[in-house]
Amino acid sequence: MTDPASDTAPDTALDSAPESASGRESDPETLRERVLGSLTTARDRTTLLTTCVEEPDLTAQHSPLMSPLVWDLAHIGNQEELWLLRAVGGREAMRPEIDGLYDAFEHPRAERPSLPLLAPDEARSYAAEVRGRVIDVLESTAFHGTRLTEAGFAFGMIAQHEQQHDETMLITHQLRRGPQALTAPDPEPAPLFTGPAEVLVPGGPFTMGTSTEPWALDNERPAHVREVAPFWIDTTPVTNGAYTAFIEDGGYDDPRWWAPDGWTHIRRHEINAPLFWRRDAGQWLRRRFGVTEVVPPDEPVLHVCWYEADAYARWAGRRLPTEAEWEKAARHDPAGDRSTRYPWGDADPAPEHANLGQRHLRPAPAGSYPAGESPLGVRQLIGDVWEWTASDFVPYPGFVAFPYKEYSEVFFGPEYKVLRGGSFAVDPVACRGTFRNWDYPIRRQIFSGFRTARSADRGDA
Ligand code: AVJ
Ligand code: FE
Repeated sequence: MTDPASDTAPDTALDSAPESASGRESDPETLRERVLGSLTTARDRTTLLTTCVEEPDLTAQHSPLMSPLVWDLAHIGNQEELWLLRAVGGREAMRPEIDGLYDAFEHPRAERPSLPLLAPDEARSYAAEVRGRVIDVLESTAFHGTRLTEAGFAFGMIAQHEQQHDETMLITHQLRRGPQALTAPDPEPAPLFTGPAEVLVPGGPFTMGTSTEPWALDNERPAHVREVAPFWIDTTPVTNGAYTAFIEDGGYDDPRWWAPDGWTHIRRHEINAPLFWRRDAGQWLRRRFGVTEVVPPDEPVLHVCWYEADAYARWAGRRLPTEAEWEKAARHDPAGDRSTRYPWGDADPAPEHANLGQRHLRPAPAGSYPAGESPLGVRQLIGDVWEWTASDFVPYPGFVAFPYKEYSEVFFGPEYKVLRGGSFAVDPVACRGTFRNWDYPIRRQIFSGFRTARSADRGDA
């Protein structure tokens, strides 16, 4: 059995690690438009997610893992007030007494329903009032001079924060029992993918992380050079069909495939298939946003935890890619000496590149989005499903917490695994080749899947 390759130690933290210019150096009016557009897109999504169900479904806790939807709504407004009105705009607190209620570190999710939260209509008008004042602050903010306002960073951070909670709220909708409340068109059907199953990524240095992407968050910084040995990586995420073969081969009953903690966990909780799956009359069914359907074999597998991804990979004679390998597959262009923003190059994501932004409420079939493939031909690295990597969530050399330790720094360490690439539920503003997500290895309510890798043998490269 192959041992997961550990991330090769960082080489150098070069200021000059080559990466593409972001293409975002624009005049203040263009930047103001971009900020306004990003904030508005986020609020439209938030509004949809909090108006498609009745009030009792906003205040209920649908899972102990999640906040009531009405908590997310007011928390979105409160973070926007803290950073854009108070920190950037220098304004007084609007309702200082509610700050504690919406501080994620003061109250774990499980206890949020018992707090004296704002009622749905109060939460909605609070968030709207904050937004109105933010528009005024935006008009009078110069996008230079302080790190917080440079290139509109704080505004970009807050648009990303709202979109991250919009993904969280979509997870809450998936966990909620009851009839369908959300609908969206399915992705285009795709012909069965018949290209090569895996792609060889050449060994050598590449630039990981970024020092030029203006809205990149602290944990993506700085750009630094990494040496990565040659490896093979799956062309597409692992599909339901492939994952079903693992199940039907007794994968959940064989401790050989499982990390020891994972084996203990799946035994204790009697886990034998991805979350939301159920076996009925000889076929696999799954519940998806209130509808039960046959599991589609050619779609990337969704709602698996890190332990399941790791076990599948070992069963397949493979392993999960490290975070550095994933990013090299996504950003390294062998024809140029630099890392790009996305697998397809430096252009902002468009619908033909990737399944992002909750346009669809499911991943697209494996092999979709040929326009989004990497120069080496790896597909669907961005969008569709978050991809578990082998790596722990640790800081890059030269990391500096900004603007607050509680975004990334307090989570660094071996208890979290990194996920990459974003899911169908992630908005483009919160998704790029450098973006890092993290969660506990037992979590599977998130929109998580994976692809596998293997180290290249001598002679491959
Ligand atoms: C980056 C998705 C792990 O939801 O816990 C939201 C994002 N941070 N509010 C989370 C976040 C603060 C974070 N993740
Ligand atoms: Fe938050």
